[in-house]
Amino acid sequence: MSFPFYPEGARRRSMLTMISSTLIPVCEDVWQVRQALVVNGVPAHTRMTVIRLASGQLWVHSPVALDAALVTELRQLGTVAAVVAPNCAHHLFAGAFMQAFPQATLYLAPGLSRKRPDLRGQPLPDEPGIWQPDLSYHWWRGMPLINETVWFHARSGTLILTDVCQWWQGDRLPWQAALWARLTRVRRRLGVPLHVRALVRDADAAAASARQILDWPIRRISVAHDGLIEVRAHEQLAIALEPLLRRGR
Ligand SMILES: [Fe+2]
Repeated sequence: MSFPFYPEGARRRSMLTMISSTLIPVCEDVWQVRQALVVNGVPAHTRMTVIRLASGQLWVHSPVALDAALVTELRQLGTVAAVVAPNCAHHLFAGAFMQAFPQATLYLAPGLSRKRPDLRGQPLPDEPGIWQPDLSYHWWRGMPLINETVWFHARSGTLILTDVCQWWQGDRLPWQAALWARLTRVRRRLGVPLHVRALVRDADAAAASARQILDWPIRRISVAHDGLIEVRAHEQLAIALEPLLRRGR
C-alpha cells in the first residue's frame, strides 16, 4: 500500500505499516479507520474516529495516515470541518491530514502547540465548538505530559479514548505487542496502562476527571489502542479507572 501523504514530523522509529484504510461503520453517523503501525519496535493498532455532525459536516478524531482511497471515502462522506489531535502523543499524521483537507480547522490538545509548533492548529476552545451539540469533551487533568482530551458523542453514547485507557485485544497479537500489553496491564481488559499511570502528577485532579467522565451516560467506548467496547461499557470503564480513582480524593 502506498503513502502519498507521508506523515510530516513522524519519527523514523515509528514508521507505519498500513493494513487497512477503510472507513468502518460503527453506528449511525459514526465511523472508524483502524490502522497498524510500529512504535519503537512494537507493532500496534490505532483508530481514527469520524463523526457526522448534525450540520452534515465531519469531525475527525486522531487522524491516521491517508492514502488516496481514504481521502476519496472521506470526501464522499461529507465536508471535513474539524480535526482533533486529542492529546500530546497523537499528532504524527495531523499535518499530512490537513494538507489533504485544507478547509478544515485543526484543533490541538492543550500543550501540543508547544511540542509541534509546525502544526497550524488552534487550541481547543473552552466555549462550545462547532461540534456541539453532538459532542462534548473533557480535558483529563493531572497528567500534563499527555493532556488527553476525552470526547463523548451524546446521541450514540460513544466515549472516545486515546491513550489514557487501552486494551490490546486479539488472540493473535505479535509477541512483542502481547508482551508490551501484558507488562503494561492492558492485555486482557480495558485499563490505564502502567506507563500512563506513571504520568500522573496530580492524583486528585486525575481522579476528579475520571469521576467526571464516568458521569456521562456511556453506552459504547472507542479505544484507540485498540477496540470498540459495546457490552457493559460503563461498568468496564469504571473498573479500568479504579487505579486512578483509588489514588485521588
Ligand atoms: Fe497512542
